[in-house]
Amino acid sequence: MQLIQVKDKLEGSIKGLEIIENEIKAGRVNTLGLATGSTPETLYAEMIKSDVDTAEITTVNLDEYVGLAADDPNSYHYYMNQLLFSKKAFKESFLPNGLAKDAAAECARYEEILAAHPVDIQILGIGTNGHIGFNEPGTPFDSLTHKVELTESTREANKRFFEREEDVPTHAYSMGIKSIMNAKKIILFAFGENKAEAIKETIKGSVDVKCPASALQNHPDVTIIVDEEAASLL
Ligand code: GLP
Repeated sequence: MQLIQVKDKLEGSIKGLEIIENEIKAGRVNTLGLATGSTPETLYAEMIKSDVDTAEITTVNLDEYVGLAADDPNSYHYYMNQLLFSKKAFKESFLPNGLAKDAAAECARYEEILAAHPVDIQILGIGTNGHIGFNEPGTPFDSLTHKVELTESTREANKRFFEREEDVPTHAYSMGIKSIMNAKKIILFAFGENKAEAIKETIKGSVDVKCPASALQNHPDVTIIVDEEAASLL
């Protein structure tokens, strides 16, 4: 694991983009794995400003809420369209379908997409309980794309995006921990004091399902970019 400590989110996003751009320019990126949440917003804003050519790059996203349509303002489809895809050209982009009728078939479909488009760089944020994607504590490390029941703490943390608390979905589709670990290179971003505990467990804790991100200790190429607050317990 390589740890890069920066001053703030902007500096961290620029640093992360630099790594991604270098990989793209070296011809090593066919598929980019993307994340949502507030963490990568600045990264996407900087990517839009950058002249790096992404028109031949395929994207795959980590997760999507169950029950939300692509045009629902709270869906991750909508987030990605607003923050990146409508402003920067990519070859094609995949996210799980929140309206899929058959959950098992949707998970299998997504794993087929991942098999056809192996991820070269996966961008990750982290939940305050150490979740990556929507892999909550306790998720087996050999998990593939699956339907997840969101924990109360995750629903609580994400309710700020919704008008009413009861609108926060109870389930999501998420790439599994194994699906994420299949990426050749992983860049995890964490900004703010509320991520400090999760970052400490990720880097210094034991490799244990109680902190899903601790699985990253077993990955050969992980860069963790943190601001001073997120690094405060290291
Ligand atoms: C959500 C997403 C994760 C994200 C995490 C942190 O639950 N599924 O991919 O990393 O929360 O969110 P934020 O970046 O808003 O702190």
